[in-house]
Amino acid sequence: MEKFVINGGRRLEGSIKVDGSKNAALPIILGALMIPKGESVIRNVPPLRDIFTAIKVMEFVGAKVSYDPKICVMTVDASNITENTAPYELMRQMRASFLVLGPLLVRCGEARVSLPGGCSLGSRPVDYHIKAFGDLGAEISEEAGFVIAKASKLRGGMVYFDRPSHTGTENILYGAITAKEQTIITNAACDPEIIDVAKFLNASGARISGAGSPTIVVEPVSELKAVDYTISGDRLVAGTLMMGAAITGGKVEVSGLDPDWMSIVCLKLLEMGCDVSTTDSSITVTGPSDQNKLYPVNITTFPYPGFPTDLQACIMAVSCIASGTSYIRETVFVDRFVHTMELRRLGADVAVSGAEAVIQGVKELTGAAIMAPDIRAGAGLVLACLAAKGTSELLRIYHVDRGYYRLEEKFNQLGADIKRMQS
Ligand code: EPU
Repeated sequence: MEKFVINGGRRLEGSIKVDGSKNAALPIILGALMIPKGESVIRNVPPLRDIFTAIKVMEFVGAKVSYDPKICVMTVDASNITENTAPYELMRQMRASFLVLGPLLVRCGEARVSLPGGCSLGSRPVDYHIKAFGDLGAEISEEAGFVIAKASKLRGGMVYFDRPSHTGTENILYGAITAKEQTIITNAACDPEIIDVAKFLNASGARISGAGSPTIVVEPVSELKAVDYTISGDRLVAGTLMMGAAITGGKVEVSGLDPDWMSIVCLKLLEMGCDVSTTDSSITVTGPSDQNKLYPVNITTFPYPGFPTDLQACIMAVSCIASGTSYIRETVFVDRFVHTMELRRLGADVAVSGAEAVIQGVKELTGAAIMAPDIRAGAGLVLACLAAKGTSELLRIYHVDRGYYRLEEKFNQLGADIKRMQS
C-alpha cells in the first residue's frame, strides 16, 4: 500500500488544468452500454481507480473496451452484450456500478445487479432507483442481495424523487430513452454532471430536455447510435485545488471547467476572506497571507446548486485554521464526518454532534500520521497536511486515488512537497 509524506507550510502558487470529471465519466462510459451498434469514442476520461473498476463491469457484461490512460481516450463497442448480471465482486468496489442497471435492463430485458458497495458514507440505499424503474414499468424483485429488474420494453411515465439523487437521475435517464412513452422526471438532480450525461445521450440520438433543472423530459427514440464525446472538467478536483490556495495563503488558477458550477464554493471562499476572480473557463483563488484574515464560515451541504457534500471535508480543513468558530451541517450524507478524527490528530478542534460539526479555529496544525477514510475525506486531509507545520504521513491513499489522478503531482506542480511512498 502507498502513502503520502507531506511536508507542510508551503504556499501554493501557479496554474493548473483539471482532468475530466469522474462523476460524469462513470455514468457516460456505463451509459455507452446502451448503444447497440458501432464503436463510441469517449475523450477526457480520467485514469482513476473507479474508471478501471467500471471497465471491469463493462467487459464482464460483454462490451469491448479499450482505454489509453496517457491520452484519456476510451472506445466502447457494446454490440454484443452477453451477460445481464453484475456480480457482487465487482459491485462492492464502487457504488456507481449500480448505474449498470438501466443499460442492462434496456439491452437485455432483464438485469440482475448486486446491491452496491463503495465509500462508507453511512447508509446509502438505492430505493429511489428501484422505485423509479418500477414507475417506468419494470417488474422488480430482490433475491440474495441482487436487484432483479424485468421489462421487455419499459413504458415510461412520471418519476418523482423524494430528494434529488445524482446517480438515480442518471439511471432513470437510461431507462427512459427508448421507453414506449414520454418520461417526466420531477425533483431530478441538477448537477453539472447530469447535463454532461444528457449531452452525451443527446449526441447519440436521445431526446432529453431540461437536464440541469429539477424537471427533465425524455421523449422516446428507437435506438442510440455510436458517438464521439468529450467529458467536462472535474469541479470537485477544481474545488480541492482552490481550497489549497485558501489554506496555504497561496494563489492558484484552475482552468478547464465552467466557473458557474463553482458559484457557491467561490462565495464561501470570499466569505472566508479569499480573493476570487473568474474568466470564461478558469477561477483564480488567492488566500489571505495573514492567517488571522481567514474568517470562519457557516456551511450547509445541499444538492446542487447548494454547497457540495463532496467538498465538505476540504472546506472543513480550511476552517480548522480560521480565526473563529465555523459551523458545518451535512444534509446529504449525514454520517460523512469520518475525517474529523484524523483532523484532531493534526491538532484541529472539531466537535461533531449528529449531522453538525463545530470547528474552533486553531493557530496552527501540526504534522502527524493519519489515514484517508474515503475519497473526499482523504483530499480534505491532504489539504490539512499542506497547512500543518512539519511532516505528516497520510496512509490508505488508495481511497484518494479513486477520485483524484495523482493529486500529489498536481499540488507539487503548485509548490507543495508531497512524496508518494510505500507504507
Ligand atoms: N438516497 C436514498 N435512496 C436512493 C438514492 C439516494 O435515500 O435510492 C439518498 C442518499 O442516501 C443521500 C441522498 O439521497 O442521502 C443523495 O444521494 P445521491 O443518490 O445523490 O448520491 P449518489 O448518486 O450515490 C453521487 C456521487 C457522490 C456524491 C453524491 C452527492 C457519483 C458516482 N457519486 O452519489 O460522489 O457524493 O452524488 O452529490 O456521481 C464521490 O465522488 O466521492 C462521491 C461520493
